[in-house]
Parts: sequence; structure tokens; C-alpha cells
Amino acid sequence: MSVRRLASEQPESFAFTPENLVWAEKQILKFPAGRQASAVIPILWRVQEQEGWISEPSIRFVGELLDMPFIRVLEIATFYTMFLLAPVGRKAHIQVCGTTPCALRGAGDLLKVCRSRIHAEPLHVSANGDLSWEEVECLGACVNAPMVQIVPDTYEDLTVESFNTLIDDIEAGKPLKPGPQVDRFMSMPVGGQRVLVSAELYDGSMIGQGAGLAAAKDAIAARAKAAEEAKLAEEAKVAEEARAAEAAKADPAPAKDPVAPAVEIQGEADKEKVPNQVDQSKPASDPSVRPDAGKVEVSQSGKKD
Ligand code: FES
Repeated sequence: MSVRRLASEQPESFAFTPENLVWAEKQILKFPAGRQASAVIPILWRVQEQEGWISEPSIRFVGELLDMPFIRVLEIATFYTMFLLAPVGRKAHIQVCGTTPCALRGAGDLLKVCRSRIHAEPLHVSANGDLSWEEVECLGACVNAPMVQIVPDTYEDLTVESFNTLIDDIEAGKPLKPGPQVDRFMSMPVGGQRVLVSAELYDGSMIGQGAGLAAAKDAIAARAKAAEEAKLAEEAKVAEEARAAEAAKADPAPAKDPVAPAVEIQGEADKEKVPNQVDQSKPASDPSVRPDAGKVEVSQSGKKD
């Protein structure tokens, strides 16, 4: 966690070089009258580029230049960790992100390297005056954690080995490669791009063909048709069930008394007995044998009389 305080030792005064003063006045003219305070960040940045850090006299100078209360300039200078509040290493001031994603990916090991190679304490310059370091909060490159910032660039995907190499290169004055220190471009997957890799996407051969668009339209239409068919089938099923329920309510089937199997068997046996119960000694015309006998006379010819 960085503590944002002005350095205990401060210079007597601060003044822009004539060139920087002309540049600062141009910045102020970019804003409407009464809004010159909007130029505070670029002007503080120019102070840092000129001096290497932001001193208390430079904060007063900027406040007077922009007609701002000093406290407001101090608030801005102490809020942003890109503004350095103490003299730093001649060759580099290394800001190590110590926030959670970087901490989980090894920022603690990078801080150990800083303590052993630069200085045991943050914001102290190394013995040869080349380097200094401090721990800062998230610098917005979490996806490439762990990382450090050496204003104005960031160095990401660091390991103890690659961080040591970075420090060696700074000491030796070699050119540095900002960004990821592994085989990836920006925050793409390690090992290279994995999606949108078809050459046709980039060689211009698909321009005006609409091939991708047509395929996408077909797939969308097929999905919509299948969904509509499933919906209609479901609606038909529900309607059929409702119709059957209505019909059952309006015309209930007559309830049948259950017949015990023994009774049913007896009934069948009785049916067989019926012819044998007729008294064969009586004529068929006898009303006791045929109840309708005598009511309709049939002639010998078979015609009804
Ligand atoms: S946590 Fe380190 S860059 Fe965000």
C-alpha cells in the first residue's frame, strides 16, 4: 500500500523553463475563461517531466498559475500514483502493483526482488542512484498480472526471472519492451490467438459475399420454425385434453353395478336351465308357456289373420 505524502526534504523553489511555460500557457488557453483548472493534470505532468518528481514548491507554482487553492492541487498530486512525490531513481522508478489479482499471481515475489536489488524500503533510491521502487494499487492491467509500471509504460505477465532481466536491462541502458513479458499480444490467450483465426476474415475475400450473414439468417430461421412448431403442438395437445374433459363432464358414462363373479356364473347356468323348465306336456299355445299365445292367430298358410 503506497503512502502518498510529500517528501520530507523539499527544494526552495520551482519554476518552469521558458519553453515549458509557453507550453503551459497554451494548455490553459484550451479551456474556457474561469475553467483553467482543467489544465492541472497535464501541467503537473510537465512539472514531473522537467524535475523528475512533484515537489511542494511546484504544487504552489501550479496553484498560482491556474488560480487554484494549493490544497486542490495537492489533492490531485497525492491521489494519482503516476505523480511521484519524492526524488526517484535516475534510470527508473518501479511501481509494483500489490492489489489482489497481482498479489495472487506473484507480486509478493516481485516486491522481494525490489527489496533485495534496489532498497529495503520503498521510495528510497538505490546505492548507485539508478533505481527506486514503491508498491501501488491496481494499475488496470489485472488480466496480465503481476505487473509493474515504469512511467509511462507497464510491464506485465512478470515472473521473478523476467523481472530480474527487466532490471538488468534498465541498469544496462538497453531498450525495454513494454507490455506482456510472455508470448502473448496484449491480453490475448497465452500462446496466441484462438478465435477468429480464419484467413478469410482478414483477406477481404468475404466482403460483399454475405456468406456468413446468410448462414446466420438460415440458422435463426430454422430455430424460430422449430420453436413455432413445438408451440403449436403443445397448444393442440392442451386443447384436445380440454375438449375431452368437457365431453366427460356433459355426458358421464352410466355407472354399472359391479357383479360378483359367483353371481355371474350362476346367471349363465340359469339361462341354460330355462328351456328345461317349460312343461313339455302343455301345448305351445298355452298362455302359461307362451304369454302371447292366442293374441295373434297364425293361419295354416303362415299369414296373420
Ligand atoms: S491488480 Fe494489479 S493491475 Fe489490477
